[in-house]
Amino acid sequence: MKIFNVGSVNADFFYAVPHLPRPGETVAAGSMSRGLGGKGANQSVAIAKAGLPVHHIGAVGADGQWMLDALSGFGVDVSAICQVDGPSGHAIINVSEDGENEIVLMPGSNRAVPLDHIKSSLDDITPDDWLILQNEVNGTRLAAEHAKAAGAKVVYSAAPFDVGAICEMLPFIDVLAVNEGEAKAMYAALGSTKSAELESVSVLKTLGSDGAEFLHQGTAHRVDGRNVQAVDTTAAGDTFLGYFISAYAQGQPIEECLTLANGAAALKVTRPGTADAIPRLSEVLAFIS
Ligand code: RIB
Repeated sequence: MKIFNVGSVNADFFYAVPHLPRPGETVAAGSMSRGLGGKGANQSVAIAKAGLPVHHIGAVGADGQWMLDALSGFGVDVSAICQVDGPSGHAIINVSEDGENEIVLMPGSNRAVPLDHIKSSLDDITPDDWLILQNEVNGTRLAAEHAKAAGAKVVYSAAPFDVGAICEMLPFIDVLAVNEGEAKAMYAALGSTKSAELESVSVLKTLGSDGAEFLHQGTAHRVDGRNVQAVDTTAAGDTFLGYFISAYAQGQPIEECLTLANGAAALKVTRPGTADAIPRLSEVLAFIS
């Protein structure tokens, strides 16, 4: 079994602010730092830290070598990340003293992944394999269609949220990952028109500090949130998804997948940053035991 991830790679710029700026307000940051991020990269790093091989497919600009080095350092296979003209993707992330965040995303090269590169990188995908996608890169529909035709399982994170993108992806996905706000917006927009298609996919819904729910074949499996001191909630959802899929793809019982992913996400929020702050499997196992 192989896991492929057609996903974003971002330079994350973190600004520690006393509170998130209101419209028109100027807020002075107490510190600033840079690290590897992007929903795609974070999910690949979570899968690698959970101990599974993961092949990341995507694009960076000429400024992106340090991000490839970082991904490789975490054990992610970066041989299918190509270099394209123009800058890499980046994100401006404000993190408040209570751990909340707001993110402005500049997609850059994440929206310029050559379609023939995506297709050829998925040439040897098989029915045993999994494909992970988020809405931060181009070519998601092509990748999903290709993987589905090959019999692989497809997981799609509907973030950044876009109803049109969900509609386009629904016929090709097995697992749809949303947070609470995205789930509400999705069911409000599509509940009546796409109910049959929504019922045919498994929905992984993260609920912030309240835990998560996995709706699978008509049964809702729940895990309660863990009580931790949150310093930065950024990438908690990516951590959850990466750990959940790494266990689910290996056939572990759903409750165990949820417990593992919940522990990983809870540990992540106690640490500042994104990919660098995702815990390793040994840390997660020690935390949940
Ligand atoms: O989910 C967190 C991620 O969203 C950040 O790493 C940032 O790059 C944006 O893609």
